[in-house]
Amino acid sequence: MKKREVSISYLEYNNRDELPVAEKQLVEEAVAAASGAYAPYSHFMVGAAILLDDGTVIRGANVENAAFPSGSCAEKTALSYMVANHGDRKALAIAIAALADGKMTEEPVPPCGNCRQMLIEEEQRSGSHIQVILAGKSAVYVLETSQALMPLSFTGSNLRK
Ligand code: THU
Repeated sequence: MKKREVSISYLEYNNRDELPVAEKQLVEEAVAAASGAYAPYSHFMVGAAILLDDGTVIRGANVENAAFPSGSCAEKTALSYMVANHGDRKALAIAIAALADGKMTEEPVPPCGNCRQMLIEEEQRSGSHIQVILAGKSAVYVLETSQALMPLSFTGSNLRK
């Protein structure tokens, strides 16, 4: 028997003004994207902005549905659009921000498990790291890879016998 440990590291900034320019710009895109959310049930508006290797920024927002499971998260909306329309590009980074009752949340909003799974798949498909920027008003976390969000994740290689 062996005991194994997995740890992750990330940068924590006090606010988005402390970020390097490119990261700060992507956070602004995520905040702007959040205003496109359709969230009449939770009133929690999430925005995601993906920076591609050609400089294009893809925005996504959560889209809810009266049949709750039919809704889609902001990250999923953005990733699906990206793969369908810019599948030959690499995603360099994704920023995520949320508005609760119209105001940006104080704390960063971490992506849900399904969105983590999708981010990891995209990282594997493209073969390059996707930086993750989780933005709140009083803290911003920056992770250098999406994989760090979900150790021991299920991937395509697990489908082989
Ligand atoms: N939501 C996202 O868009 N992204 C996440 O990673 C977490 C949750 C949305 C889904 C739902 O519309 C609302 O936030 C409340 O859960």
